[in-house]
Amino acid sequence: MKLFAGNSNSGLSRDIANYLDTQLGSCDVRRFADQEIFVELKENVRGEDVFILQSTSYPANDNLMEMLIMIDAARRSSARRITAVLPYFGYARQDRKPGPRTPISAKLVANLIVEAGADRVLTLDLHATQIQGFFDIPTDNLFAIPEMSKDVKARYNTQSLMVVSPDVGGVVRARALASRVNTPLAIVDKRRDKPGESKVMNVIGDVTGHDCILVDDIIDSGGTLCNAAEALLDQGATSVAAYITHGVLSGEAVNRIGKSKLTELVITDSIAVTSAVEGAKNIRILSIAELLGEAIRRTALEQSVSSLFD
Ligand code: R5P
Repeated sequence: MKLFAGNSNSGLSRDIANYLDTQLGSCDVRRFADQEIFVELKENVRGEDVFILQSTSYPANDNLMEMLIMIDAARRSSARRITAVLPYFGYARQDRKPGPRTPISAKLVANLIVEAGADRVLTLDLHATQIQGFFDIPTDNLFAIPEMSKDVKARYNTQSLMVVSPDVGGVVRARALASRVNTPLAIVDKRRDKPGESKVMNVIGDVTGHDCILVDDIIDSGGTLCNAAEALLDQGATSVAAYITHGVLSGEAVNRIGKSKLTELVITDSIAVTSAVEGAKNIRILSIAELLGEAIRRTALEQSVSSLFD
């Protein structure tokens, strides 16, 4: 097996390579003066099982293009099999037509990855699990919930806990955490009139006296999370923390979390951790390097990946 990493998340890529007791393949990813991307794999991949690691996070278009070009380079170098490993799959939120004359960009990105030459995809907590079906190649969608539940059990008194979904779309994910840590479940009824702005309409369930844990796939502006935390505290929750897989954290999000009443926000390293996040007092990182590393190992050995979650 050979692992090559794009530039989006070097820390996680190194940690995955360490877990697999191997080195990242040598590879040059350079820019021409006009910012075109140029890739050169510096080692032979003929007949190899190649894994290309890249999160298509900010800057999403550059990181996506870099990954497509790396896949093309591996294909033209006669790799036996190419797996695109996307710890964070950007564009996933555009998974349906929100109105007339709009695109389904998640499907377009899936087409591009397949057309570039990927034989398989390995990703984590897709915004909607149906996106798996956008790829006509084998696609493994890993879940961070088992890692989160171990962390919750180690750090919280589960007697007073209540898991909360910050919107109706996240109920399945929240229920998975609630059943693993054996707590009740509540739901925030969120409405979004336009992208980037959300408001809470209702809290479904009695959160009085509970330490609430919000669970979600993405935190971007932080609006969903901070509004949900306020609503839960207004309804009598004792405290609110959050576990969120992908820390997109655009614009002022880190400051917003710092000023919020959240006791802590736990995100994974699916997206490169910025210095602002490292310096934030109430943000903690839960690494998914072992989970991804183990899934890569099992893929290479043709072993079951789904049994990782049994
Ligand atoms: C939306 O359905 C997602 O699951 C997240 O709740 C959303 O992307 C978070 O965005 P923001 O932090 O900007 O409210």
